[in-house]
Amino acid sequence: MFDVTFQTDLARVNAALDRLLPAAHDADGVVRDAMRYSVANGGKRIRPVLVLECCRLCGGDADSAVDAACALEMIHTYSLIHDDLPCMDDDDLRRGKPACHKQFGEAIALLAGDALLTEAFRVVSTAPFAKKSPDAALRVIALLSENAGVGGMIGGQVIDLRSEGQRITLDRLQTMDAKKTGALIRAACEIGGVIAGASEAQLSALRGYADDLGQAFQIVDDVLDVVGDEAALGKPIGSDKESEKSTYVSLLGLDAAKREAEALTARAVDRLAPFGKQAAFLRELALRLCERNA
Ligand code: IPE
Ligand code: IPE
Ligand code: MG
Ligand code: MG
Ligand code: MG
Repeated sequence: MFDVTFQTDLARVNAALDRLLPAAHDADGVVRDAMRYSVANGGKRIRPVLVLECCRLCGGDADSAVDAACALEMIHTYSLIHDDLPCMDDDDLRRGKPACHKQFGEAIALLAGDALLTEAFRVVSTAPFAKKSPDAALRVIALLSENAGVGGMIGGQVIDLRSEGQRITLDRLQTMDAKKTGALIRAACEIGGVIAGASEAQLSALRGYADDLGQAFQIVDDVLDVVGDEAALGKPIGSDKESEKSTYVSLLGLDAAKREAEALTARAVDRLAPFGKQAAFLRELALRLCERNA
């Protein structure tokens, strides 16, 4: 059942992304090509699937959340394009293909990232759910900007870059991961809830789940950078060590990092207790993400 639901959501998100991304048809087509290139397949689509499933869990219609889910995936993809640039992590492979800047050059990659970020806000503000419920749309726009901005993903990326070659405290590492990775995962869960008209108690449970899931997700990402398989991952391994990144693995070692990811995953699962059996998909998703090899 989990797999069928995941594949159905994935197909729905991919079709919507194709519909929403601009087509390359004029002189500026190269940026549009670069946007589509980076968004197209290879991504796990965890964040948009979370939007749809959190919406459904709170009694909403997943179809009404699909455009917002795509907007979040556009923002996530922009963060990956910029994360790979030589001035940041300097990685050449992403989603199993040459990174955007390797394929299109740095200037176009920078602009494609900027364009995806901008496009995301067009998509949300013109989505069918926004016409029906402008209040919900405003909340979604606020969630996207807060979680992607300096208080969220960007703030985390700054800590990440500033921590290269240093030994930071566990507390600082947790703050970094909560921002650079946790923020967009939290946005996903909360946006799904808001579009469904979730109660404050439901939103609070979703936030708790998202925060533990986000932390576990980044730990597993750090672990896979050491023990993963490049072909399966679709991105380079050993990149963190090369850049002297501060990660769970560099701070605590591989085994402790894995144990921490498992503990956080168990806690994420517990956080869904208020939803009872209805949250089976989200529980299974957390467990699978902890065991993933890609
Ligand atoms: C990679 O995110 C960057 C992190 C926040 C760890 P994902 O692992 O979700 O990347 P895709 O979307 O599947 O390519
Ligand atoms: C990613 O962290 C956080 C982002 C906001 C992109 P990483 O730098 O570890 O992500 P990967 O390993 O390159 O996907
Ligand atoms: Mg990075
Ligand atoms: Mg990186
Ligand atoms: Mg990584």
